[in-house]
Parts: sequence; C-alpha cells; structure tokens
Amino acid sequence: MKPLRIAVLGAGLIGHRHIQTILSLPEVAELAAVADPGAEPAQLQLGGAAWFEDTRAMLDEVKPEAVIIATPNDLHAQQGLLCCARGIHFLVEKPVTATLEEAAELVRAVEQSGVKTLVGHHRRYLASVEEARRVIAAGELGALVAASVMWATRKPDDYFKVDWRIRTGGGPLLINAIHEVDLLRHLCGEVRMVSGLQSHAARGFAVEDTAAALFQFDNGCMGTLILTDAGLSPWTIEQGSEENPNFPHSGQNAYRLVGTKGSLELPVLRSWGPRIPGEIGWNKPLTSTDIALPYHDPYQAQLRHFQRLIRLGETPMISVLDGANTLAATLAVAHSSSQGRPCVPARFTQA
Ligand SMILES: NC(=O)c1ccc[n+]([C@@H]2O[C@H](COP(=O)([O-])OP(=O)(O)OC[C@H]3O[C@@H](n4cnc5c(N)ncnc54)[C@H](O)[C@@H]3O)[C@@H](O)[C@H]2O)c1
Repeated sequence: MKPLRIAVLGAGLIGHRHIQTILSLPEVAELAAVADPGAEPAQLQLGGAAWFEDTRAMLDEVKPEAVIIATPNDLHAQQGLLCCARGIHFLVEKPVTATLEEAAELVRAVEQSGVKTLVGHHRRYLASVEEARRVIAAGELGALVAASVMWATRKPDDYFKVDWRIRTGGGPLLINAIHEVDLLRHLCGEVRMVSGLQSHAARGFAVEDTAAALFQFDNGCMGTLILTDAGLSPWTIEQGSEENPNFPHSGQNAYRLVGTKGSLELPVLRSWGPRIPGEIGWNKPLTSTDIALPYHDPYQAQLRHFQRLIRLGETPMISVLDGANTLAATLAVAHSSSQGRPCVPARFTQA
C-alpha cells in the first residue's frame, strides 16, 4: 500500500509525537512538511521534512494528501475547515474543536467536502480496549449494566505556574476526562444523560481539581467517573497501560465493566465469570482470568488505521462527527455541575 504524504500542523508536545510516529513507519506515511509559527525546527527531528511558519502557505505549496492537526484547541476548527476546502483528509487532536458551535460547523464541512477524518482519541487503539470491545460485542459479559472509571493522579505543583491551567476551562475535565468519556462511549454506547459535580477544594484555584460524573447510556447501562488531578494514586489508564513513558507503569486497573454474565477490568485485562459455567448468582463462586495481550503503540496503530481509512475505505475508528459527540458528553459534565441538575448532551448525527 502506498504511504500517505502527510503534513503536521503544530510541532509541540503531541505534534512531535506524531512526527516521530510518522518517521518510525515509512511504509505507512512520508512526512512531507511541518507547519508551526512558534516552534524551533533546529530543536526537532524532522527527517528532512520541509518547515513552514505559515499553515496556508504550506497547504497550498506542498499539497499534502493528509494532515495531522496538533495545534491548540481553538485552532482545530479553522484548520479543519482549511483542509475541507482543499480536499485534504485530516486527523485532528482531541478535543475535536473548542466549542459545540465549532464542532457543528466542522461536521457540516466534512460532510460536504467528503474528506476522511479521525479524532486523536488514541486510547481506542490500545490492545486492551480493542479486546474489551470484542468481548462486549461477543456477548461474553451478557448485557452491560454498569461501568466504573477512576482517573486519579497528582499533577506536579509547577504544572500550575501556567496561567490558563488555573482558570475555568483549563482543568482536568476538558483536558483529561474527555479521553475517559470517549472510552465510555466507545465501550458502553451513546450517552443519554449526564450529572456532574466539580470541586476545587484541594488547590483553591478557579479551575476544578476534582470532578464526579454519572452517565446513563442509551442501552440503560449506568456509568460513574471519578476524576482528580490533586490525588496521588496508581489508578489512571495511563499508568495501568504502558502507553506513555511519562507515566510510570503501575499495572493497576482503572475501569470496571459489569454485565449480567460477567465483568471485565482494564487496561490490565482481567475477566470475571462463574467458576462453574452457567452457575450465575451472588451465592455462586466466581473465577478470574487474566488476558495477556502483546503491547502495541496506540499512536502507531492510529497512523496505520489512518492509512487504511484513506487507501482502503476502512470505517473510521472515530470521525469528526463521533468526536463531536464525545465533546458534547464531556461538556455536559461541566454544564450539569454549573446548573445543579442533570443534562442531556447535544447529539450530532449524519445529515
Ligand atoms: N491525544 C492526547 O493524548 C493529547 C495529548 C496532549 C495534547 N493533545 C492535544 O493536542 C493539541 C496540542 O497540545 P500540545 O500539548 O501538543 O500543545 P503544545 O502547546 O505543546 O503545542 C502546540 C503547538 O502548536 C503550535 N501552533 C500555534 N499556532 C499554530 C498555527 N496557527 N499553525 C501551526 N501550529 C501552531 C505552537 O507553536 C505549538 O508548538 C491540543 O489540542 C491538545 O488537547 C492530545
């Protein structure tokens, strides 16, 4: 299969990871150019790719067939629109856009242009998440009834020296919880109703340091999420998986999915079911099985999928429209918390 001719917009923290991923997979993608008005190219490994400060100039000169948008959130919509106008396929980092209004505009433009899109919710490509989806779809847990997620870690104190991180909107709800809400949607289905609470008691900044949310899914399953960036624990999916060397491996689980016939913990996959097949009940013994899976890098898996999406027409793991629904369900947590009542998230559907 021919490698994709890709350009990257934004060479910051995550953009650099995408660049390294592209350079590590020459059979999947060729890095044609990078555009960033603020980064210093001499400090980056670019594999000889062209460097631009101006995004439009790069798109018009280089004419890449696909782009990865790894810029600050408030640029995602306008840069996605630039791609739509030029017929360029794109992968945009999460959140798909900064607001629901922008998401609606981008969803429309994508539909009209016919470009193929992905949103960078890379955890969907973790081997444990792929296996969990398979187990659920195969009916091995019976009907899903409940899901419980914990994301609890302590960001270092100097993280908060950056002004926007202590103001409303700069907190763990929109930066971190969006990944958990996305995985809950991916595993449990579409979110019908959300209740949220937030607290800033641990640090006293305007931004939340802790949040709790209840989710009701279309299939009747209920979910809970506890989120804090002020508490020290081994229970985040980052620490439980090996997805990022910046988060030392704890090997602990952060998700529990409960069905009528059994349950599953992840990201270190452990399934629970009746010790004697068919003997189901609270007075019957349970047995657990650890499912060992070879680790694969989710960013590499994401890039391989991007190539197959464009070359072979594979169904997108998460399109702009799907990412817009993750954004809506995440914003609903904050909205519910500020309104003091449950909230029905906006729902984006195909035109
Ligand atoms: N998938 C994930 O787990 C994950 C992790 C981190 C960040 N992100 C997302 O990735 C995006 C970038 O985050 P980051 O942490 O890398 O930020 P960052 O600040 O490290 O990098 C952003 C880069 O974009 C550049 N930039 C600014 N304006 C630009 C423009 N007009 N054109 C091109 N480049 C421009 C900046 O100079 C900077 O180098 C955010 O949307 C963030 O939410 C996702």
